[in-house]
Amino acid sequence: MSAYLITGGAGFIGSHLAETLVKQGHRVRVLDNLSTGKEANLEPASGGPGELDFLEGDIRELDTCQRAMEGMDYVLHQAARASVPRSVADPLATNAVNVNGSLNLLYAAKEAQVKRMVLASSSSVYGNVDPPDAPKVESQPPRPMSPYAASKVSMEHYASAFYQVYGLETVCLRYFNIFGPRQDPDSPYAAVIPKFLFCLLQGERPPVHGDGRQSRDFTYIDNVVAANLAACAAPDAPGQAINVAAGVSHDLLELLDILGELTGKPREPEFQESRAADVYYSLADLSKARELLGYEPKVDFREGLGRLAALAQEGRYLA
Ligand SMILES: NC(=O)c1ccc[n+]([C@@H]2O[C@H](COP(=O)([O-])OP(=O)(O)OC[C@H]3O[C@@H](n4cnc5c(N)ncnc54)[C@H](O)[C@@H]3O)[C@@H](O)[C@H]2O)c1
Repeated sequence: MSAYLITGGAGFIGSHLAETLVKQGHRVRVLDNLSTGKEANLEPASGGPGELDFLEGDIRELDTCQRAMEGMDYVLHQAARASVPRSVADPLATNAVNVNGSLNLLYAAKEAQVKRMVLASSSSVYGNVDPPDAPKVESQPPRPMSPYAASKVSMEHYASAFYQVYGLETVCLRYFNIFGPRQDPDSPYAAVIPKFLFCLLQGERPPVHGDGRQSRDFTYIDNVVAANLAACAAPDAPGQAINVAAGVSHDLLELLDILGELTGKPREPEFQESRAADVYYSLADLSKARELLGYEPKVDFREGLGRLAALAQEGRYLA
């Protein structure tokens, strides 16, 4: 049994990490300020056999990070203002949480001498690559196109510096459009899959920004949980940034077609203006994840969408 601190553990991805670790018998502490997360997301993680404790607090406060770190072996850092458009609207707030908050956690983790810290980074760090539809490889230099992407690049650099200077083992995972149950469909900054799915189920027309041909490497949540667990143990992962994705790209109109089939609902999109700072193509190269983490995506796009649509239709989206 090990002790894990999950920051942002009341959010979408963090709550799945908490659930898996508690089910495996580990001790989990969640630190979350409930800005976008919900305590209800932690219900599936509260049934043991491991232990779960919830600390309501903000990573922008160093003493909170220090308190949260006490007795922990591993840190899975998910807390963030996790949205490109939100960062365009308020870049200072994004920086305060994603950069300063992450730095507080790195500092507290170093002081507490935790075994390893795994940090949630993002495919947005790549920006548009050349040629535009080429897979994104970790050796490419980051080209952030939004304040959110810049904050994640900065967090990665701090993580790498803490490894080099203090020997704190850090691993950054560059998530590519994660989806699954509990991802908030109602926020004004909702991700596209829950947004489209619930629009269809409620008989509304899903809003599509631009021409709908922008593509994403949509990745089911179970793959991300597996990548985090592997990143805590992989011997050659510290100091690295590693893609986590499905390795296949789909555009938004294709996504809408599949969701329409799965829900049996008409799928008439409502086209809207393109969004500022939106990356057009996104596809991951998974060679490094395979080599360093032994990672292989286990649930593909269609299977993940099928599971998600079934849960939503059965009223078990939050389960
Ligand atoms: N979902 C994706 O597709 C995706 C893609 C790339 C990267 N990421 C990254 O993965 C991580 C998790 O994202 P998510 O989709 O679960 O988002 P989410 O919004 O559901 O979860 C983020 C959690 O962090 C908490 N939080 C925010 N600010 C905080 C603060 N100052 N102090 C403490 N807690 C705070 C929120 O309340 C929330 O519970 C984020 O770092 C995000 O940038 C997500």
